[in-house]
Amino acid sequence: MPQRFDYIVVGSGIAGLYAALLARRHGSVCVLTKGSIDECNTKYAQGGIAAAVGRDDGPELHLQDTIAAGAGLVDVDAARILVEAAADRIHDLVDFGVPFDSSDGEVALGREAAHSRSRILHAGGDSTGAHIELSLSALARMSRITIKEYVQVEQIVVEGGRAAGLMALDTRTSATERFDAGAIVLATGGCGQLFRVSTNPDVTTGDGIALAYRAGAEVQDMEFIQFHPTALKIPGVPIFLISEAVRGEGGVLRNAAGERFMPRYSEQAELAPRDVVARSIVSEMAATGTDRVFLDVTHLAASRITARFPQIYRYCLDHGVDMTTQPIPVSPAAHYLMGGVRTNTWGETTLAGLYACGEVACTGVHGANRLASNSLLETVVFAKRVVERTLAGDGGPAPPTDGARDLAPLAHEGAGTPDRPSLQALMWDTVGIVRDGPGLRRATHQLAAWRAGLPAPHDRPSHELANMLLAGRLMAEAALVREESRGAHYRTDFPEPREEWRRHVVFRRESPHAA
Ligand code: SIN
Repeated sequence: MPQRFDYIVVGSGIAGLYAALLARRHGSVCVLTKGSIDECNTKYAQGGIAAAVGRDDGPELHLQDTIAAGAGLVDVDAARILVEAAADRIHDLVDFGVPFDSSDGEVALGREAAHSRSRILHAGGDSTGAHIELSLSALARMSRITIKEYVQVEQIVVEGGRAAGLMALDTRTSATERFDAGAIVLATGGCGQLFRVSTNPDVTTGDGIALAYRAGAEVQDMEFIQFHPTALKIPGVPIFLISEAVRGEGGVLRNAAGERFMPRYSEQAELAPRDVVARSIVSEMAATGTDRVFLDVTHLAASRITARFPQIYRYCLDHGVDMTTQPIPVSPAAHYLMGGVRTNTWGETTLAGLYACGEVACTGVHGANRLASNSLLETVVFAKRVVERTLAGDGGPAPPTDGARDLAPLAHEGAGTPDRPSLQALMWDTVGIVRDGPGLRRATHQLAAWRAGLPAPHDRPSHELANMLLAGRLMAEAALVREESRGAHYRTDFPEPREEWRRHVVFRRESPHAA
C-alpha cells in the first residue's frame, strides 16, 4: 500500500523546508531527502538574500537590476513578483528564527555585483545559508512533518495524466516504496556536480530535472549555467566559494603580474555581472599562462575583513592564505543553474500535480544570468506561492510550450563505462564557460552513448549518475541549439547575441528513447 500525504516535498534545502513548513499548516506533509536533512546546497550560500529594504532602495530598482543581469530573457511578470514579495518573505524568515545581521540597530545590507544598491541581507557575516538551513531544519524536526532521510526518489508515477505519486528507494534497506500525494513539490536543487570544478556539494546531481523530464514535464533554459568568478584555487584544497560580497566590500582582481585587470573589461570593473567577470578571468588566465588570478582585499582594515567574512577568513587561513595580508588565489567554478523544470508564477509545472521551487525550477526570473543573491529569495517567494496555489484549488498545470523539442535520437557506439569524474571532465571541457559547436556536438554524442551503456540504476550513486547524464545531455543539447551568445551562455562560433534567439529552448519528452 502506498503511504499517502497531502504534500510530498522532495529535497531539504531552503526551498523544500520552507515549503514544508508552510504546507504543514494545511495538511499532512512528508519530506523525502536522499541524504541527511542538512546535506544540501543551501548551507554553502555565503553572500545572502537580496531584498530592496534599504532607505534608498525599492522593488522597482531591484527589478531593473534583475532584468539587466538577465540579458533579455527575464520573465518580467515573475521577476516583479519576486522583488515585490521580498520584504514579506524576509519577515517570514525572521519569524522562523533566521538571525540576520544588523548594524547600528538596522538590518545590515551588503553590496554585490550588478546591484545598483546595497541590498543583500546576511547572517553570521558570510554564513547566511548555514543559518537559514539550521533554523528551518530545527523547526521542521520539531513540527508534525514526516521527514524521511536517505531516500532516493526513482520515479514520478503518472496516472491519468497527473503526477500521482513517487517510487522511492530507501538507500539504507534497499526497499522501494510508493508515496502518493495531492501535491508533489520538487525542491531538489541544481546540478553543479555536472562540472569538474564546482562550488556545489556532492548532492547537486540534477535529480529533479531528470525525474520531471522523464515524467513528461517541460524543462527550460538548461544552457544557462552560471559560473561563479571566484572559487579558492589552491592545489589539493577542496574548492571553496569566495563570496561575491568580498568584491562588494571593495576587493579587486589582479592577474599573475599583480595588475588590476577588470577595468579593462568592463566599466563596472569587479562589480560587473558574473558572466562578464568569469569570462574576463578566463581570458586573463590565458593571456598570462596561469590557472588562477588573485582577489585582493589587503587594502581593507583587517578587523573589517574578519568581522564581515569570518568563514572565508578562517578557511583561507587554514589553507595557508591570510587574506588580510595576502591576495587570495581564485578561479571560476560552476555555481548555479538558471534553467530547470519549467513553471508558471505559481510553481506549477506542465504536469498536473507536480510543482517545483528553488534552483530545480525555471520560473524565468533569472533569464540568461542570475543577479547575485536572488536565488535564496526566489526559493522562498515561489515556495510560498506553491502552497498558496494548492489551497486555491487546482488551477494548473502550466500550459505546454509551442515548439518544445525532444532530445535528438543519437547513435550510441563505443560507449565505454561512464563514471562521475569522466562526466565532469567532459562537461567542464566542452559545456563550460567558453563553448563551441564541435565541442557541444562531441558532448551530446558522448553523453548519449554513456547513457545507453549504463546498467539499470539500483542505488543512490547509480541513480545520481543516470540523472547527471540526462541533465548534462539536456544542457549540452540546449547549448548546441542556441546559436548565439547571451548571458552565461558563450560560444566562440556565435560570439554575439542574436535577436531571433530572444526566446527559450524548451525540452519535453515525447518518446522513451533518451531518458
Ligand atoms: C556569493 O556569495 O557570491 C554567492 C551568492 C550567490 O550565488 O547569489
